Amino acid sequence: MEEVRLTSLVRSSGCNAKLPPGDLHKALDNLPQKRSEALIEGFESADDALVYDIGNGRVLIETVDFFPPMVDEPEIFGEIAAANAISDIYAMGGEPAVAMSLMCFPSCLDISVMRRIIEGAIRKTGEAGVVIAGGHTISDREPKFGLAVTGFAEKDKVWSNKGARAGDVIVLTKKLGTGILMTAHKAGETDGREAVEQMRTLNRRAKESADGLDVHAATDVTGFSLLGHSYEVAAASEVSIVIDYSSLQFIPGTENAARFGFVPEGRYTNEDYLEDKVSIPSSMPLYCRDMLFSPETSGGLLLFMSEEDAFSYLDRMESAFIAGRVVEKGSERPRVQVSFP
Ligand code: CO
Ligand code: CO
Repeated sequence: MEEVRLTSLVRSSGCNAKLPPGDLHKALDNLPQKRSEALIEGFESADDALVYDIGNGRVLIETVDFFPPMVDEPEIFGEIAAANAISDIYAMGGEPAVAMSLMCFPSCLDISVMRRIIEGAIRKTGEAGVVIAGGHTISDREPKFGLAVTGFAEKDKVWSNKGARAGDVIVLTKKLGTGILMTAHKAGETDGREAVEQMRTLNRRAKESADGLDVHAATDVTGFSLLGHSYEVAAASEVSIVIDYSSLQFIPGTENAARFGFVPEGRYTNEDYLEDKVSIPSSMPLYCRDMLFSPETSGGLLLFMSEEDAFSYLDRMESAFIAGRVVEKGSERPRVQVSFP
């Protein structure tokens, strides 16, 4: 059987394939649900994972994430999908433990491709100390892969998206630009190597570097873009957020690719959803807006801390940088403001 390019089989890839946030709210808001006393974070909070009280001061954290490939190499796709799925456990301050795989697999692909995807996932989960304990596979026209991951944490050490306070500094642990660069890569315009390296990097060190520091709130930056995930924290914490454009770091080549119009489709649905929640100065060029609204795949942790803790953190985690700060929302609704230049 001849080699089929994985990305040639998919329409949208990575976290760009997430359904638009506005549609999700329409489908999910106010559904009648049975309540559970033990469920600390569930459906309503739009957090990264569910948090379930298992007693003795411990909680179980569970998340699921899967998507179509953004790279052609099956092992690397497996690694990225695993790093991305596990990230939601780290974004809750948890320790990942076990996982199950979800695979959609086209009959036009040789079965060895499936094995190579799983091999990549096993390598990456191993690096996180996670065991893949089973899974489910169905036949589908588009390949898709991901994991449901279970982790644990001390109940009083869970990072939710609710605790951000005015005065907090916002730290991001990976550069931005994966969505734009992989769009350019698909068109044959960049090698995408640095974006791939970043996407396959676990957020384990990013999480562990916060040991002993007081993280007020946290999430990770994926399909809803830096602005979308910032807004989720602002809304949950009842604060406003200022993103400082000049302090953001992008993977080299992102700006060029954005200027040439390599923009993932999810960028537009993100902006539609965020239109009345985000303020951007009209002086900001379009390609900069593109960079802020574009989906990221397997992005970094977005951590909210006091200024003092943020600086200690930056000393420990060299890839991290300051993305903005938290301000009072006053009598307004929570907002994300971008300061530019
Ligand atoms: Co997340
Ligand atoms: Co997720």
